[in-house]
Amino acid sequence: MDDGFYPGKLRIVRGRAPAARARRTGYAAVGVIAVSFFADFAAHYEALFPAQPQVREFLAARAGPGRRRLLDVGCGPGHHAGRLGEAGHDVVGVDIESAMIDAAARRYPAAAFRVLDMRRLDELAVGPAPRAPFDLAFCVGNTAAHLSLPQWPDFLARLATVLVPGGRWVLQIVNWDFVLGRGDYEFPVRQAAGPGGATLRLHRVYRDVSPAAVRFLTRLEEDGRTLWEGEQTLHPLTAADLGRLHAQAGFTLQEHLADYDGTLFDPARDGGQIAVCSLARRDAP
Ligand SMILES: C[S@@+](CC[C@H](N)C(=O)[O-])C[C@H]1O[C@@H](n2cnc3c(N)ncnc32)[C@H](O)[C@@H]1O
Repeated sequence: MDDGFYPGKLRIVRGRAPAARARRTGYAAVGVIAVSFFADFAAHYEALFPAQPQVREFLAARAGPGRRRLLDVGCGPGHHAGRLGEAGHDVVGVDIESAMIDAAARRYPAAAFRVLDMRRLDELAVGPAPRAPFDLAFCVGNTAAHLSLPQWPDFLARLATVLVPGGRWVLQIVNWDFVLGRGDYEFPVRQAAGPGGATLRLHRVYRDVSPAAVRFLTRLEEDGRTLWEGEQTLHPLTAADLGRLHAQAGFTLQEHLADYDGTLFDPARDGGQIAVCSLARRDAP
């Protein structure tokens, strides 16, 4: 399975001590020190998780023809948003982690980036330069696994405020039905070339899998030495809950896929899932 990842709490074995950043991001302490993993991981992210052209082709196709307004929710290093911007779309990427947003803004000037908690998407609709409404919003790389089940209705209600009527929403998360049916899960080790030709190896495992929460343990090595190890809580979302929550929020599930190649979703198949939804057109007042 390859879901992208977000180990938000980490124990630094070697590296900087970003206590101020930990306070700013508000993550709770675990182990030696508390920070968001992505604060220090931004530099390695694209090496370990290179953006696949297939993802942006999929998103561009769902956005429709012409120059569209797109929102990347939990954009990370901005590789999807940035490249969709380079392709001519008007794109905004938001992420809770300022290090990610800083890296994205430096690297991808063709898109706009903003530090924002995805649970506050409605804040995009206000301010001196409103960035809403969007024709399509997307949240990929299992980012939405940070929402607990009770947070979903509010999240979807706020999302709806920044989409045009009939606007589309693409969500990509792991196949939680498969994970729940299996228990502990160890991902294949992800390996990539790091700075100066060093070998990066990322270890990821799900432990104590339950319908409400999963412990996500991660460890990043550089040339065999552990750089970081971390733990965070993710929240499974079954296909049944996904369908129910979206229907209740006024979204119609148009496609439910296993992959960007168009393979249909199968709860018994290891991997991810992609839901393509459209927001109901509201009646004129
Ligand atoms: C696994 S990365 C995926 C990044 C990108 N979507 C991709 O597919 O490459 C998850 C991202 O979600 C962000 N994130 C986690 N919780 C968030 C929240 N509540 N609001 C906004 N971003 C969040 C993290 O900072 C991280 O950059």
